[in-house]
Parts: sequence; structure tokens; C-alpha cells
Amino acid sequence: METKIDETSEYQDIEFNPDQHAIWRTLFQRQLPEVEKYACSDFHQGFKTLQLPEDHIPTIAHLNAQITPHTPWKTVRTDVRYTDAVPWYNHFARREFLITNYLRSRDELDFTPEPDMFHDIFGHLPYMTLPHYTALQDMFAPAFLRANDEQRVNIKRLAWYSTEFGLIREDGELKIFGTGLISSYGEMEHVLAGKTPIKSFTIKNVIEIPKTIFNYNPVLFEFDSIDALKTELKSYFDSI
Ligand SMILES: [Fe+2]
Repeated sequence: METKIDETSEYQDIEFNPDQHAIWRTLFQRQLPEVEKYACSDFHQGFKTLQLPEDHIPTIAHLNAQITPHTPWKTVRTDVRYTDAVPWYNHFARREFLITNYLRSRDELDFTPEPDMFHDIFGHLPYMTLPHYTALQDMFAPAFLRANDEQRVNIKRLAWYSTEFGLIREDGELKIFGTGLISSYGEMEHVLAGKTPIKSFTIKNVIEIPKTIFNYNPVLFEFDSIDALKTELKSYFDSI
């Protein structure tokens, strides 16, 4: 099924029912102690700035009031749940971060193959308050939009294994960086229990591994800092 994102209009805040707010609260309360222990220092800094409410789904107005004083990005809601990457990257090129209106059900608390609004808001948006992180996010869309099909596959893998599922080494300790891990109780525990092989994040290592959508990732990648990650990505993006 083809879906289309409206490229012109801005999506407004929508109403959520009490059960959805309750699912948000359950996810939030369960994930908070996990990220306090295992997330990287940048996530903690952004999380403090974002001031997410624990007991209800935040409004776009709240989110943008926390983000736009700090970075050139803003958030936009969409009812699209999945689409081709091109419209998504067109939004990224305009520094609009899309948040889906879809929220996982109670049966999917541990793992959802489809990114939902808990992933988008709790996982991604803390980082979008940090200028050195949005500079990283800014690297992807221009490269993607000028790339050929094969290069686009590679760029999607590089994004998947860095911003979505990357690990960062801080003071010798492996910390959670990727937003897919930040928002997934099940996979975060799995990785930190040493059940996922970890390789070093190099272009060569990453582009040979397809994305794993419907299960935990069979291998993940680590880097030493956001600056080191940017340097590695730039070496490839500059060649496109
Ligand atoms: Fe994501």
C-alpha cells in the first residue's frame, strides 16, 4: 500500500484517549530507570532539556517550545505509519522531525517493529535539543537526496546502526546511544546482557549488514564519540 505524506500542511496536535495516555505513562515509568542507568551522557542532557511529562502524551506545542530555542529543528505530527524513505528525508532536509500519531498497544510494550510515537518522542527528541546532535542529523538528508539507489540503501543502514541502534563508549564503558534501543525495553536489556555481538562502527562494517526490522539486531556497532561518528559518516557522504 502506498502512503503519502502531505508536504505542504502542518499537522496539528490531536487528542488521545485515556488508555493511550495510560500506555504512555506505563512505557515512560518503565523506561526511565533503564535510561538513567544505561543511556549515554548526551541523552541525559537532552532529556533534562526536553522536560517530558510522565503522565500524558506531550503536545507538539510543548515539544517545540523546548526544542526550537536550542536547535533549528521542530517537530511535526503525521498520521502516516510507514512510507518510502524519500518523503521522510524531504522533511529532514527542512529540519522537520516527524512524529507518528500511532502508539503501540499494551501487547507490544516490550517491542514494536513499527516505530511509534513513544520511540519518536522519548527516543529521538531529547537529542534534537542538542546542537552537536542536530548537526549529525543534518548530515543525512542532503547525502540521501543526492545519492543513487545503492548508496541510499547504504545510507539507510548507516542511519539505522548509528542514530537508531548505535552504542557509544564513554570512559571505557559501553552506553546506549541509538533511539531504537533507548525506547525498547526488551532489546536494551538483550544488548546490555552481552547477547548481541558488537563491532566497531566503520562504513565497511556497517554497509554489509541489512537492517533487521522484525527481530532484535544480530550485530550492533560502537563508536567513541559523536564527533568520531560524524568523521566516519563524512568520509562516505563526501564521496556521493
Ligand atoms: Fe527512529
